[in-house]
Amino acid sequence: MTDLNADIESLLTENRSFLPPPEFVRQANVNDPLIYEQADANFEEYWSNWATQLDWFKKWNETLDWNPPFAKWFINGKLNVSYNCLDRHLQSGRRNKAALIWEGEPGDWKVYTFGDLHREVCRFANGLKSLGVKKGDRITMYMPMIPELTIAMLACARIGAPHSIVFGGFSSESLRDRINDCGSKILITADGGYRRGQIIPLKKNSDEALEATPSIEKSIVVKRIGEKAKVQMKPDRDIWWDDLVRDAPYTFEAEHMDSEDMLFVLYTSGTTGKPKGVVHTTGGYLTGVYATTKWVFDLKDDDVYWCTADIGWITGHSYIVYGPLANGATTVMYEGSPDFPDKDRFWDIIEKYRCTILYTAPTAIRACMRWGEEYPAKHDLSSLRLLGTVGEPINPEAWIWYHTNIGGSRCPIVDTWWQTETGSILITPLAGLTTTIPGSATKPFPGIRAEVWDANGNPVSPGNGGYLVLTRPWPSMIRTIYGDNERFKEQYWTKYPNTYFTGDGAKIDENGYIWVLGRVDDVINVAGHRISTMEVESALVDHSSVAEAASIGRSDSLKGQAVVSFVILKDAISSSKILEDELKAHVTKKIGAIARPDKIFFTADLPKTRSGKIMRRLLRDIAEGHVLGDTTTLADASAIELLKDQYEDAE
Ligand code: PRX
Repeated sequence: MTDLNADIESLLTENRSFLPPPEFVRQANVNDPLIYEQADANFEEYWSNWATQLDWFKKWNETLDWNPPFAKWFINGKLNVSYNCLDRHLQSGRRNKAALIWEGEPGDWKVYTFGDLHREVCRFANGLKSLGVKKGDRITMYMPMIPELTIAMLACARIGAPHSIVFGGFSSESLRDRINDCGSKILITADGGYRRGQIIPLKKNSDEALEATPSIEKSIVVKRIGEKAKVQMKPDRDIWWDDLVRDAPYTFEAEHMDSEDMLFVLYTSGTTGKPKGVVHTTGGYLTGVYATTKWVFDLKDDDVYWCTADIGWITGHSYIVYGPLANGATTVMYEGSPDFPDKDRFWDIIEKYRCTILYTAPTAIRACMRWGEEYPAKHDLSSLRLLGTVGEPINPEAWIWYHTNIGGSRCPIVDTWWQTETGSILITPLAGLTTTIPGSATKPFPGIRAEVWDANGNPVSPGNGGYLVLTRPWPSMIRTIYGDNERFKEQYWTKYPNTYFTGDGAKIDENGYIWVLGRVDDVINVAGHRISTMEVESALVDHSSVAEAASIGRSDSLKGQAVVSFVILKDAISSSKILEDELKAHVTKKIGAIARPDKIFFTADLPKTRSGKIMRRLLRDIAEGHVLGDTTTLADASAIELLKDQYEDAE
């Protein structure tokens, strides 16, 4: 655990506040403050009112079955997520409304109406069925940000085959492990994707992964790049997407899924080396993302909503695909990076499609700040009316820059806190109601109970810090870790009985506003992406020259945190710049570029307790140039000072 008090001391004392703009309040989807009390007074009824706004084949007969830590929502209800995202909008006059606006990195683009998307989803569902896919089969996707990814998700949901999406930046080994953990039958990939003008070799990585994935029967490949990708198709395993759907029928009846049937599994880093498969189910998840998209983003029928995340992460699942489409909204999807071909790409996309809502990450905002305000200033951003952020704490300077330069000082900002495990946004302002303070995610969404507790499980008094916990179940909550109920209990429910422990530290202020400080466990948040220190360490010790390794997250003005690794080499191996680069490349190969250490420091010793546990918080003090924290539990207190001096000399 990191030292919470040190974090709180360094937290900026922010006193600028922003009232909801009156013209926004007038038109807001929610502007009655009583909603908080009403939702709190009868949260089951409140959530069941939300669920009623979805289309059910059969209504549930009990709202919640709470047997901590196992929750079931909307018991015996039957519905289909794909039906809710598509079919019901065809019936309500949205057949010819844009559902998905897709922008490719090279500048190609495509618009799918709800009618188009429905047809393509049905065709692909038929294609999957022709390969023998049925309800309950798992399907892994390792794809670029192209429309076929959204189509594949909705087709899986239509059949009732849970998907497992693996971010395209992960390595072939990470892909292989994730396929094997959930025993997927099919892999969907592409011949490649574009990123900063380069081709990402997804098919090549997939081929490597599929050398050791016994459950995979077929691999479906989208032709995104063409000739230049030079892929090899394995005849009895690989099928081109286009061939699969060529003669497929245009309709496919949506499977009647139980509310508690699994919709997807998504792997995320925890405190051990092995990523966890977070399981989300059908009725509760859809209710959570539907409700939060509607209220947090104040979504209206004529909005053009853009979330810049990658669908390989939970933000893309919930707020590019399921939340907006369940609301019948127009959602924008972009394949590439914000600085390609130039640093105004985001602002160009907003101007091109007249986007009204933008949801992005603090790390992207900080990068844009660094590039300068002349880039947004070149574009007409007057269509924007609401801005959001997610993934890590936002520093007040970045918040103010976003507000001024992107929001033209008129757009409210929603700083949304949530996690892969929570499924949907849980702490957030409501733009028509909440006075915002830069850096605070403010208050729990109506119906949610989030509190800050001390180590003994008592709520901390205002001005103090502690652990962020969730004290009441919510519909889109994680149901379990795939195949591992014990790890699920151990990970989230043992610190405090019957209470979900988020792994985050937070502070609560006099107004009851929550300030999320960041992880207090061995998870690093690099550019809004979760990486476990253990994963990086396992990758390092896998290298033949490494005897021992410890990794920490060092504050980084751009990425929030950056990985720094301390490495003890095996006897007879000497350190060198070449070896440092080789180790960085090794981590990239084992996990993916997001886990690549920024710095590797070779050392002869690591600070350990008498029981042999590495004290990472001291390594963090060293890497961040802080005075060393409490060293009394160290087995050998003299070595740490030496390590600090050596590190500082090398900087
Ligand atoms: O530490 C918190 C941070 O991101 C973690 C969740 O990461 P992940 O499951 O990858 O999901 C990211 C997108 C939902 C949290 O435990 N985090 C997320 N949003 C915020 C945040 N920290 C501070 N403020 C936020 N708004």
